[in-house]
Amino acid sequence: MKRILFVDDESKILDGIRRMLHTERTRWDLQFAVGGEAALKACEAGAFDVVISDMRMPGMDGATLLGHIRDRFPSTARIILSGYAEVALATRAVPVAHRFLTKPCQAADLQATIERVCTLQELLSAPEIRKLVGGIGELPSLSSTYHNLTRAVGDPNTSIGDVAEVIGHDVAMSAKVLQLVNSAFFGLAQTVTSLKSGVSYLGMETIKNLALTTETFRVFAPDPRVPLSVCEAIQQHSYSVAAIAGTLPIDSKSRDVTIVAALLHDVGRLVLASKMPDVFCSILALVDERKCEPFEAEQELLGTTHAEIGAYLLGLWGVPPLASEAIAHHHHPTRIPHGGFDISIAVYVADLLAHELEAHPEDSTGTKLRASDRACLETLGLSGEYAGFRELAKEVGK
Ligand SMILES: [Fe+2]
Ligand SMILES: [Fe+2]
Repeated sequence: MKRILFVDDESKILDGIRRMLHTERTRWDLQFAVGGEAALKACEAGAFDVVISDMRMPGMDGATLLGHIRDRFPSTARIILSGYAEVALATRAVPVAHRFLTKPCQAADLQATIERVCTLQELLSAPEIRKLVGGIGELPSLSSTYHNLTRAVGDPNTSIGDVAEVIGHDVAMSAKVLQLVNSAFFGLAQTVTSLKSGVSYLGMETIKNLALTTETFRVFAPDPRVPLSVCEAIQQHSYSVAAIAGTLPIDSKSRDVTIVAALLHDVGRLVLASKMPDVFCSILALVDERKCEPFEAEQELLGTTHAEIGAYLLGLWGVPPLASEAIAHHHHPTRIPHGGFDISIAVYVADLLAHELEAHPEDSTGTKLRASDRACLETLGLSGEYAGFRELAKEVGK
């Protein structure tokens, strides 16, 4: 049974949640704490899988509580449930919360969110992943530019100019970030030539995430035993998936995170190519022999796939949690509940389209889709819309 702790300073609200989730009591062990101090005591008595906290509480507020939980119980998933009026306050919780929900929250949203964080947590704590990542040994470290950038973006006194200056010190990163800013994904009306205007067009968070993308491609350079063309194709494919994702009907709030997730969705493959080249080559051989997908060959040889490996590492590096979730499920989107066309669905559909257009650029019938993908689109309620998405994706290709 999953152990879930709700924290609020008003016991009336906790009672409401208790009633709302009454039907879940056979699969979730629901606990309630009034205030941050009581919540920490409850965690010490027995760690929780998920903690869902109010933001504004007298004494210890939600951000402080989740910060303590992150440091002391790192495997607990952390969710903020705050009122609309507290949005500004909630930004303090950005570095410590995995998800944000607003009050009043519908039972279905609350259930789906809890289910999704539990699924991700379970996938990423599987022994296969731990063994594999343990086998990689020391992870390549991100450059000081990226660390300085993270620090700058997290500081409320940072100006756009400061952020541009940090990136500006790193010529290779500046060039890459400008290239991404000007690529089709963002659809900016004019060419952006300075980092400062790039930051002001797209915002500091997005620029930081684009920098993370270029960093990730840089540190996972392929081992000489792996054919360079394979890794170049993976990068090229990542750019196509991001460009296609930009054409899909995602809400504007989720757009930047979708593009980062699309750019990084196959990074697990680069990790294998760079850190476990022999394994990577055996996977390629199996794909060739069986005419199967890389994720199927990986599942057979490793017991896990590049989707979970990528999500795990990017989670450690601080990629936005919703991006990491989309990456983890990009070959299996139906293993989590969806309430509309969200980031995970966008990355799955964009990846599917990119693969389809790479293999059969002229086909517009969809008959080349695998049966499993057709079933998946059906479950997601997208069978009808898919042909329209394909036409838009073809335009991007041109
Ligand atoms: Fe993939
Ligand atoms: Fe892919």
